[in-house]
Amino acid sequence: MIIPEAQLRQRVSALGREIAASASPQTGLTLVAILAGSIVFLADLVRQLPLPMRIGLMWVSSYRGGATDAGELRAETARLPDLRNRDVLIVDDILDTGGTLRRVQQEVRERQPRSVQTVVLLRKLGKANPPVKVDYVGFDIDDVFVVGYGLDHDGLYRNLPHIALLSEEAKSA
Ligand code: XMP
Repeated sequence: MIIPEAQLRQRVSALGREIAASASPQTGLTLVAILAGSIVFLADLVRQLPLPMRIGLMWVSSYRGGATDAGELRAETARLPDLRNRDVLIVDDILDTGGTLRRVQQEVRERQPRSVQTVVLLRKLGKANPPVKVDYVGFDIDDVFVVGYGLDHDGLYRNLPHIALLSEEAKSA
């Protein structure tokens, strides 16, 4: 196990306090959470944010094989709430190469919000090239594959209450 449940709880509360302190208590925030990995983090974080709040969800998936390059991203934005003139907080599970967040930040900016900030629970330090700007980070971790607390491998392990290292055996199973 690399991040136990109690440590996650403490850090998410602290992030909530930090984010709430910089938000307007009158107009609050519009969250844009990236599915599906951020669901557990989102659920815990929003309950630490006593602000007026709207929550939008965005699926981001990568095409694999076929005619398109692996890694080309498709963002499903049709169901996002109106972001124009809103203070937006993008919520993601993990910043790895940065491809996902770069794309989501661009999609959000195109909708002309008043401000955009980003929170990630985990960040693999030094991997995103070019770097991606994030405003709040739960934990910096090494370049290892982790699961739990919303993060999956092949759809499994999202329900673990802690963040765990994925074993080599599980990776190849
Ligand atoms: P990029 O490279 O776009 O990656 O920053 C972000 C997305 O890739 C997935 N990802 C992981 N998922 N354990 C996971 O369960 C990991 O260690 C990991 N690294 C990257 C994740 O979906 C994330 O949003």
